[in-house]
Amino acid sequence: SNIVAIVPAAGSGQRMQAAIPKQYIKIGQSTILEHTLQKLLSLPLISQIIVVISRDDNYFSSLKVATHPKIKLTYGGDTRADSVYAGLLLADEDSWVLVHDAARPCVSHHDIEQLIKMVLANNQGGILATKVTDTIKKSFDQRTQVLPQIAQTCDRRQLWAAATPQMFKVKILKECMQSAKSQQIELTDEASAIEYGGGHPLLIECQRDNIKVTRKEDIPLAKLYLHEQGY
Ligand code: C5P
Repeated sequence: SNIVAIVPAAGSGQRMQAAIPKQYIKIGQSTILEHTLQKLLSLPLISQIIVVISRDDNYFSSLKVATHPKIKLTYGGDTRADSVYAGLLLADEDSWVLVHDAARPCVSHHDIEQLIKMVLANNQGGILATKVTDTIKKSFDQRTQVLPQIAQTCDRRQLWAAATPQMFKVKILKECMQSAKSQQIELTDEASAIEYGGGHPLLIECQRDNIKVTRKEDIPLAKLYLHEQGY
């Protein structure tokens, strides 16, 4: 079966407080986005990579990978979900799609391959995720409070932190995302669109190095993990 990847890279990276969008910050020789794309490009199973950039993007065209034959480019929207949807419009309906954040450059080849293997073997969509090791507190509705207070403690034996890639059939993901949008449901990942559609995607445990580079303090950590992987 044909497998394509979508890399949403149209965020502004406001939480990074950097002069340039976070996906263009350099770690070693390459930008974060290039590290991410390199991971996907080196897997022959993935036939095409759709990179979704902002209309104001001034950086992508100067990257070496910009002219790679496997890479296609499109423009994103105001939210991550809008950007992913824009990418889906370029994907063949009968393909599988791996949606992978530009901001997760440290994902290992092994974990991506494991996700693909499990999803294809079970013919069911799935995501990379890590088991939660912290004790997670749920607060009361933040809007109604001055000081946050604990409403309850979650049973962490059932908790997973969603990562990417997230892998689904293009047609199914498109339909579920469209339906969520028409109901004004805000999506922060692809799996939740499938869940609103009644599905139960597989959880494939990945290594903890698959961090999302969000804040300044994540950069040295990403650098360390990439170094350990030989980059
Ligand atoms: O904001 P967050 O960290 O969840 O963003 C995850 C990924 O989605 C990043 O790679 C970012 O560039 C991308 N994104 C996007 N379009 C947006 C917002 C975020 O492609 N409007």
